[in-house]
Amino acid sequence: MINTISEIKRKFDVNEVRKDFPILTRMVNDKPLVYLDNAATSQKPQVVINALTNYYTYDNANIHRGLYFLSELATEQYEDARLKVKEFINALSTSEVIFVKGTTEGINLLASSLCRAKFFNEGDEVIVSNMEHHANIVPWQLMGDRKKIKLSVIPINDDGELDLDAFEKMINPKTKLVSVVHISNSLGTINPVKKIIDIAHSKNVPVLLDGAQAVPHCKVDVQDLDADFYAFSGHKVFGPTGIGVLYGKAEYLEMMPPYQGGGDMIRTVTFEKTTFDDIPRKFEAGTPNIAGGIGLGAAIDYLNQFDRKELAEYENMLLDYATKKLSEIEGLRIIGKAKEKASVISFVIEGIHPYDIGTLIDTDGIAIRTGHHCTQPIMQRYNLPATSRASFAFYNTFEEIDKLVAGVLKVKKMFS
Ligand code: ALA
Repeated sequence: MINTISEIKRKFDVNEVRKDFPILTRMVNDKPLVYLDNAATSQKPQVVINALTNYYTYDNANIHRGLYFLSELATEQYEDARLKVKEFINALSTSEVIFVKGTTEGINLLASSLCRAKFFNEGDEVIVSNMEHHANIVPWQLMGDRKKIKLSVIPINDDGELDLDAFEKMINPKTKLVSVVHISNSLGTINPVKKIIDIAHSKNVPVLLDGAQAVPHCKVDVQDLDADFYAFSGHKVFGPTGIGVLYGKAEYLEMMPPYQGGGDMIRTVTFEKTTFDDIPRKFEAGTPNIAGGIGLGAAIDYLNQFDRKELAEYENMLLDYATKKLSEIEGLRIIGKAKEKASVISFVIEGIHPYDIGTLIDTDGIAIRTGHHCTQPIMQRYNLPATSRASFAFYNTFEEIDKLVAGVLKVKKMFS
């Protein structure tokens, strides 16, 4: 067993850390890149890029299938990555860690499998919140088409915080699952997920957390949270695209049928009947994203060098600074003012469409996301077509925030 968590932590120094990410030295439109779209995807340290190229250059073979050296080596690296994930989120066992394409596939897997397990009866309810990403709305609607599941929506206040009293009252005998986002990708709100889980469990309702935005910003401990399911994506946590994780408590995964059929998830196959492998393999049909898994393992090793609290504190300082500076701009309104927030700022400026802001500041090499951020119900809640969103990682700097502010001011001037 590999112990991936070093006790001696690397001291956080943003200038040193930036050197780990080769893309941060590139130019965009003849200006140094200012990458502020980390909620969409984070950049990759060289060690992650190396893990991918090393695998393809020296170790490429299919896994779980060959008795030859390379296949066993690739299998070992992929399964080591699963072990690293298990430790990273403090799952009880590697059998509770299912590799998927990303958070979206994780939620689709759960929705599909629970439906096929006849977990839902007609008229049953899944509680989501008003701040869900489409990936935590649409899969339930797709299943609803088959089973008539009703979505109940936890309201949010104007600051972008969940109404927990309303939530508690919403749970009723028809409620079969609570599925909420841990940290909102549009508003930055950090939801009180432990409390949500406690409330749901007191009424015997299991909980899925969409952790896509949480895992990059804070240490997640699924046992401490007592989450029944937890999904996240590799590419938002400094790993590759096309790999992610659905964690599930073994007691649920054992009773759930497979999501897809094919190679690697079976034990025996005849034309009459198929028996399935144990968890988590039962859920992993076909050749998986082997390089992606290994790359995610490298990203976890990279993060484990640091004291995650130190990274989070630095990101909070970036958030405070950016909030203060952007708030000073006349006509700019920040959407999402929760007391507990991660380093994500959505904003609108009176009279200027977010697309114009995004396009124009790109000419200065500044990358932010504009649009509905795959959360149209939030836009409806605030009666907005779109927002501009800056989202920070621990490799961002105060100087980059100054450039963002200067860029926004320049756009404002152009429109005045
Ligand atoms: N969900 C990603 C975002 O928030 C793509 O931008």
